[in-house]
Amino acid sequence: MAVVAYLNGQFLDPDAARIPIDERGHQFGDGVYEVVRVYSGRPFLLEWHIERLERSLAAIGIENPHTREEWVELINEAVRRSGEPESLVYWQVTRGIAPRAHLFPVAKPSVSLTVRPFAGEAAVEPWVLLLPDERWANPWVKTLNLLPNVLAKEAAHRAGAVEALLVRSGLITEGSSSNAWFVRGGEIWTHPANRYILGGITRRFVLDLARDLGIPVHEEPLSWHELETVDEVFMTSTAVEVQPIVRVAVSAGLVGSLDTWPADRPVSLLPEVGEIRTVWQARGAQPVTDRLREAFADRVARFRHQQPVVG
Ligand SMILES: Cc1ncc(COP(=O)(O)O)c(C=O)c1O
Repeated sequence: MAVVAYLNGQFLDPDAARIPIDERGHQFGDGVYEVVRVYSGRPFLLEWHIERLERSLAAIGIENPHTREEWVELINEAVRRSGEPESLVYWQVTRGIAPRAHLFPVAKPSVSLTVRPFAGEAAVEPWVLLLPDERWANPWVKTLNLLPNVLAKEAAHRAGAVEALLVRSGLITEGSSSNAWFVRGGEIWTHPANRYILGGITRRFVLDLARDLGIPVHEEPLSWHELETVDEVFMTSTAVEVQPIVRVAVSAGLVGSLDTWPADRPVSLLPEVGEIRTVWQARGAQPVTDRLREAFADRVARFRHQQPVVG
């Protein structure tokens, strides 16, 4: 069976798995999630994902229903049942199932999980669209509340971009589902993993790779006005790994909403993108991105052969 589903203690046929109407994830988005990449049947950097899940759960006061060992066992069992060597495992923990009321219920947390085949997808001429980052003030928590991310990704997609590059008070934070990186003069800039971005697991791994390669890193935000000083742009996530970007563009009508947070005038949540201006374009080779991509591929190859990838 390629696609596997799990709900509160039971592996189910994915078409038969049903979330109860009073599930708080459904009613309020009251929960958190994780996604881990599986290479050659082995979940990559699983311990780091479990640690982040612990931080997300603690942040919103949901009791962690499993020990680290139990999470590892559950995820490995799901991967084993899927029989898929290359996949993505998503899992959600919510505050549980209880009649709708805002106050925390007396309920056990709910756990759901899927395993789906995933071998990566290569984007053609990947470019990104700058959009205002109007998420709440705690994007560091990997909550199920992804509406602003969903809307931003959709607006970018409608314009033909692969990703939305979010800007809060003039500073580039991250993508709608990825972290953002910039190279200037052979050195890297990326937003610090503070409250305003999700501390990506791939980001953490790529920071280690950069250190190993001796590439200086500045964990400092970059203003979108500084893009003209940038030589390379790339994005990272569990799904895209290290994704080179060839162009950054902005919608002429949205320029004013990038520098103030939140914009004084509400921005349409699904803005008509209209006229698009290029604000940065790759000038041929992207050597730092290439080195990181190679190092990443090399670590994954080692991982596939059961070798340790992090110390
Ligand atoms: C908002 C956001 N930032 C960054 C990332 C990248 O995180 P990771 O490398 O853990 O996949 C994601 C991944 O889903 C995300 O949703």
